[in-house]
Amino acid sequence: MITNQAAGTTIDEVADGIYRIATPVDVVPGGFSFNQYLIVDDEPLLFHTGLRRAFPLVREAIAAVMPVDRLRHISFSHYEADECGALNDLLAVAPRAAPLCGKVAAMVSVGDIADRPPRPLDDGEAVTLGRHAVRWLATPHLPHAWECGFLYEETTRTLLCGDLFTQGGARHPATTEGDILEPSEAFRGHLDYYAHAKNAGALIERLAATRPTMLACMHGPAWRGDGAGLLRALGTRLEAA
Ligand SMILES: [Fe+2]
Ligand SMILES: [Fe+2]
Repeated sequence: MITNQAAGTTIDEVADGIYRIATPVDVVPGGFSFNQYLIVDDEPLLFHTGLRRAFPLVREAIAAVMPVDRLRHISFSHYEADECGALNDLLAVAPRAAPLCGKVAAMVSVGDIADRPPRPLDDGEAVTLGRHAVRWLATPHLPHAWECGFLYEETTRTLLCGDLFTQGGARHPATTEGDILEPSEAFRGHLDYYAHAKNAGALIERLAATRPTMLACMHGPAWRGDGAGLLRALGTRLEAA
């Protein structure tokens, strides 16, 4: 569903109760996309806010599915503008919402910059939303930022995998079962956004152990398939780099 014709923002349900909001942009040659994921439940959660300047588009897309003031958790992988630039704008329109992030992010950035205190998550800590439950998996410096981590939604087996498998291009289908490893590796060839931490292989293996059936990418389509296999294939490529 298109929620803003001028910007091309769309929202689509990609798993039971999980919606992908996507906005195409032209910040890099060939185009790019910024996605947010909305989990609609008793305690709705938004994973990634989008850029601060894109706030009106994200608010409009959420409002197409549920009242924005129902939001309870505003979560994100790490502290960058596309992950959490609109955090305070969202807190202002969702009075019962609080930031939900890893404890490193809370300590280093979010405890200071957010207009309300964050709920810091330990590695492996779970939060029940209602029908859904998310678990924080800390992945320091994978792909980048000390505070980096991901949320795994257990009932739909969706890994909200943030910047992993980042693909170029502005417009994608909401979901795909086609290959995303080669397109993301091609993108990384031009813009290597990885910190290349020594323990990347071990962190990838921890993510693979959740055996996700959906990898919900922040830049590109949400991918359906054997998530453990694809994560391990990425790990092999990173080790060879
Ligand atoms: Fe990032
Ligand atoms: Fe990102």
